[in-house]
Amino acid sequence: MNRLIITSNRLPVSIEKSEKSLTLTPSAGGLATGLKSYHKENDSVWIGWPGVTPTTKKEAGEITALLEQEQCLPVFLSEEQIVNYYDGFSNATLWPLFHYFGEFTEFNETYWESYYQVNLQFAEAIIANAKENDTVWVHDYQLLLVPNILREKRPDLRIGFFLHIPFPSYELIRILPWREEIIEGMLGADLLGFHTYDYARHFISSVKRLLGHDVEFNQIKLENRQVYIDVFPMGIDYNKFEKLALEVQSKPIQERSKEHQDIDRFLMGKPDRKIILSIDRLDYTKGIPERLKAFRHFLNKYPGYREQVSLIMLTVPSRTDVEQYQNLKNEVDILVGNINGEFGTLNWNPVIYFYRSMPFENLIELYSSADVALLTPLRDGMNLVAKEYIASKVNHKGALILSEMAGASRELGEAISVNPNNIPQTAEAIYKALTQSDKEREKAVLAMQKRIKRYDVHKWASEFMTALKSTIEKQLDHH
Ligand code: UDP
Ligand code: G6P
Repeated sequence: MNRLIITSNRLPVSIEKSEKSLTLTPSAGGLATGLKSYHKENDSVWIGWPGVTPTTKKEAGEITALLEQEQCLPVFLSEEQIVNYYDGFSNATLWPLFHYFGEFTEFNETYWESYYQVNLQFAEAIIANAKENDTVWVHDYQLLLVPNILREKRPDLRIGFFLHIPFPSYELIRILPWREEIIEGMLGADLLGFHTYDYARHFISSVKRLLGHDVEFNQIKLENRQVYIDVFPMGIDYNKFEKLALEVQSKPIQERSKEHQDIDRFLMGKPDRKIILSIDRLDYTKGIPERLKAFRHFLNKYPGYREQVSLIMLTVPSRTDVEQYQNLKNEVDILVGNINGEFGTLNWNPVIYFYRSMPFENLIELYSSADVALLTPLRDGMNLVAKEYIASKVNHKGALILSEMAGASRELGEAISVNPNNIPQTAEAIYKALTQSDKEREKAVLAMQKRIKRYDVHKWASEFMTALKSTIEKQLDHH
């Protein structure tokens, strides 16, 4: 039996260190939340970074033991690697560039060298654990060089790669000093998966223009083998959300979380009050200032909605050592303060703002309570939050406003679609979402639920695995 080794920079669980003890907490972000359901059910091992740097050998041993229970193996990063590989090349070079934030993109030779070193370190950790002919599934932009390093050192392995963020147009990739190395790194895989057709097409076009390889439909022809490209829009663990949302709905209010009880009090006796919800990591790709400006525009244009609607905005701290994230935090703090200062009353906060992460149960309660989800990324590989919201709407009473720049908008055609840069349009979308008839809402939710239930995360992973298997068979036939 071939085993599956999953690898990504961040493990599905992170270790938190307090003075006395080490604890495991679930990691945030679409890759971790989505893939962990699949991992749990399969006899796979997951290799990645646990989010902390151990200070002693003993501590490293304890972390390793804790992770073992979750079928995870750690790759430890030094402080220097966190600065140059994680904050640096991954999150100050590739992340902005791949999300079309050319002006935020830093080119730094030290970052690049560290990125190569860490990719090598990941490949070595995989090799140390891989038996002959095992399958390795490499994930995301932090590990773009791993497929080719594995290919060179261990040609027996079957290698799949999935990119969780957009692959940008050639016009962006071409400005990267290490563009050829990055693409060659990815081409080490047998199969490369993307969320949308556009990302796959951009990748193929970059391969042709930068490396000159022949491409036939979705096959890239290298000298001695072929690489297959395909589209797999990532799904969620639909049943898990549906089940928990049903449970929440049937629980007496006293047994629900404090947040849920607060929301309930906020709504009590005021049947017209509405809740708009947004959930994302505090990231400049998510269009958070644009969303706040649209909400302000809405309150100005439709003053009748003042005291009748609040925006609950959950922003999860992310990459807090990177300058652009710190600047964004300041910008958002100021905007929220301005809006609440301008419109707020003694018994009404227009924006209810959280800067922290929340346990899964609370997320479900928020999804269940919200009348509208307002998700306005400027660029987003997929946006699983949109799918989670729809899956949690077991009473079908919810509207989704979704940026057309999110990969998820390809599958969620019934959502109210906006260009997040268009503030007046987004404000109108809020009005539309609040005034839609129940029937319209229900029709849209049901159609979206049907689609994302069918293509859930299990289906996503198993289709990728099936495609990987068939590419290997084709390679063997070829020889
Ligand atoms: N999430 C979380 N904790 C929180 C808030 C959100 O784990 O406090 C999860 C959320 O449920 C979703 C993921 O983080 O699964 C965000 O994924 P998405 O694809 O929307 O965006 P990403 O963070 O990957 O850019
Ligand atoms: C996105 C990326 C993931 C990443 C996650 C959280 O979902 O695609 O690779 O793990 O954000 O970011 P972090 O830097 O905390 O791992």
